[in-house]
Amino acid sequence: GRFIHFEESVDSTQKIAHKLAYDGMKEGTIVVAEEQISGRGRLDRKWHSPKYTGIWMSVLLRPNLPPPKAPQLTLIAAVAIVQAIEEVTRLQPNIKWPNDILLNGKKIVGILTEMQAEADKINSVIIGIGINVNQQLEHFPEELQTIASSLLIESGKTYTRAKLIQVILAKLEKLYDQYLQHGFLPIKLLWESYALSIGKQIVARTITGSIKGVAKGITDDGVLMLEDKDGKTHYIHSADIEM
Ligand code: BTN
Repeated sequence: GRFIHFEESVDSTQKIAHKLAYDGMKEGTIVVAEEQISGRGRLDRKWHSPKYTGIWMSVLLRPNLPPPKAPQLTLIAAVAIVQAIEEVTRLQPNIKWPNDILLNGKKIVGILTEMQAEADKINSVIIGIGINVNQQLEHFPEELQTIASSLLIESGKTYTRAKLIQVILAKLEKLYDQYLQHGFLPIKLLWESYALSIGKQIVARTITGSIKGVAKGITDDGVLMLEDKDGKTHYIHSADIEM
């Protein structure tokens, strides 16, 4: 059956989830921790994960899909989290491609999707979710204070993290089932309705350089389409987006 693996303090819930995946744990297994000592973000960054104030969790999935479809799961998770935050807080967050969730232009959620694959088949996907819930501004390191925020800072209210987790998992399960049955299109449309950058001029900083253009949308695989001033479409798999 389903299994929630709860820890007081870990280095990273991703690391534990990878181990559980390797050990054969079932799809739907969740790892939640009160604190992460070395929480990880995308692009080798750290993720600030102080005790008792945020949601630090990893979700193990085992979709029967080829590896290039894995980014779609990040987008599914983003939609589930936006819907859950809307329902619980009545705030209206937006998504910044591929995986940031913002309120008033500040980041409150980060998602890190990692996979284990063999040949052309996904073995497991670990979706790491970090949500700033009850932090005060002064809880953030100074360098984050202008770019990060929390649900408390944005609404003036504290939230029960267990309730949020419960709603997120319910939404995620529903969207994931819908995805497995009907494909990505319905979710892609939802994702685009929450996305900030579609139709706007952005700069995508990739490892090979920066590309400026208008974000046109995402492909069926969750790849960002960027049209430059010469009308050429660039397909962005991984980048930092500046708006
Ligand atoms: C990002 O925006 O760069 C992604 C941040 C992902 C953070 C979460 S917190 C739970 C899980 N464990 C980690 O070490 N990272 C992810």
